[in-house]
Amino acid sequence: MSQDGWKPVRINGGTSERSKGASGGQFLVDLVIHSAEVKKALQGVIDAHPDLRVKDLNDSAVVQLVILELDEDPTESFSFIETVVQAVDGREVFLTSPRTDSKVLLEALRAGVKEFFPQPIQLNDVEVALGKFVTRCQQDTKDHTKKVGNILCVLGGRGGVGTTGVVVNLGLGLQIASPSKSVVLVELNQHGGDLAIFLDVQSNHSLRDIGSDLSRLDLALLTRVLSKHSSGVQILPSGYDDLSSGRLSPDSVEPILKLLQSVFDHVVVDCGHVLDLPTKKALDMASMIMVISTLIVPVVHRTKKILDLLRNSGIDGKKIRVVFNRYSSEEQEVLRETEETLKIDSSFVIPNDYVTARDSVNTGTPMIVSAPRTAIAKVFHDMVMAMGFRSQNKIEQANWMGRLRGLMNGRGSSKHAQVS
Ligand SMILES: Nc1ncnc2c1ncn2[C@@H]1O[C@H](COP(=O)(O)OP(=O)(O)OP(=O)(O)O)[C@@H](O)[C@H]1O
Ligand SMILES: [Mg+2]
Repeated sequence: MSQDGWKPVRINGGTSERSKGASGGQFLVDLVIHSAEVKKALQGVIDAHPDLRVKDLNDSAVVQLVILELDEDPTESFSFIETVVQAVDGREVFLTSPRTDSKVLLEALRAGVKEFFPQPIQLNDVEVALGKFVTRCQQDTKDHTKKVGNILCVLGGRGGVGTTGVVVNLGLGLQIASPSKSVVLVELNQHGGDLAIFLDVQSNHSLRDIGSDLSRLDLALLTRVLSKHSSGVQILPSGYDDLSSGRLSPDSVEPILKLLQSVFDHVVVDCGHVLDLPTKKALDMASMIMVISTLIVPVVHRTKKILDLLRNSGIDGKKIRVVFNRYSSEEQEVLRETEETLKIDSSFVIPNDYVTARDSVNTGTPMIVSAPRTAIAKVFHDMVMAMGFRSQNKIEQANWMGRLRGLMNGRGSSKHAQVS
């Protein structure tokens, strides 16, 4: 497609009244386009529109429109479109592709695509579609800028206390309780590398792929680095857990988490147990920090140090929760004394259940799915409900057990069902 001779045309008459868009009075558009020529042409149309702006790296506002070019593997694109559309009320996705077969178009519609531009692109069609999009946005009274996913950081009081176990069970719990919401699990732990194993997900990409070159950070790259678990939860493993040099820069944490927040309702971060600068950045951005501890003396000592560090570093104490893992009922008095020492009541205690925990890790199936009737799984269920993240949708709530059964009937169900 050639741009020669094409002049940008103003849509909707170029009113002087600016819209109440997401960023500086304009609605943000993200171009996830691999063909340079198509991208340039689309950028031209958007630049000419007074109410639209193409997102750049420094934009922290929520993207309202994603224009996506279909991947070589369309299933990846469609799954991404579903996530992107569901994450923010009113967000739209336009698709472009040289492929125009009816199967692709049908799938695109099912995934929630609002407009489809066959290639070579007719710029007039794009202008008209963008004009209608702006009108829809302006009519929409909702304030989209508030639709930013919440960040939940899970931090270990010490190594091996069960942090990753909490992350995967809580993450799946959130997804099951509220299937229309989107959940991503991020492994910020640069000394871990267990996240994908805990979920038995083959993951070829990681946080390292993004962190190594922030200039490439956009929705397109994000699509490629996330891996999807059968529950719908997306995961981003650390990739920093080998011997090769290079660590995650603290400066890259904020843009990465912000981008994830603009796409997902819940961003659950496995912070490991080392309180380094990248972790601190994530903790600052979190709406809740869950510190995992046990009632073992050295763990309590270190948990106290961590809590003191958090409190003294300006983090709002109201967002800190403490959860004791591997708890036995005869430890009631120890628990009370420990809470006094730490100057905080525990939000939850997770029972010690070696067999269930071991089988869950060995089969790559979180306990809430592999052993939903155990006391340990019930605690995770209660956690999701108590955190106020339960679905507002009654049908979704009622379907908790049904969805669990669905997951159990999927990959390796018979093997996991016997555990409970
Ligand atoms: N409630 C529990 N009862 C018994 N065993 C448990 C429980 N929770 C976790 N475990 C076991 O503890 C071990 C460590 O769990 P996990 O890997 O989640 O800890 P972690 O804090 O993430 O470790 P790391 O510091 O290495 O990242 C696992 O083998 C798991 O099976
Ligand atoms: Mg871990």
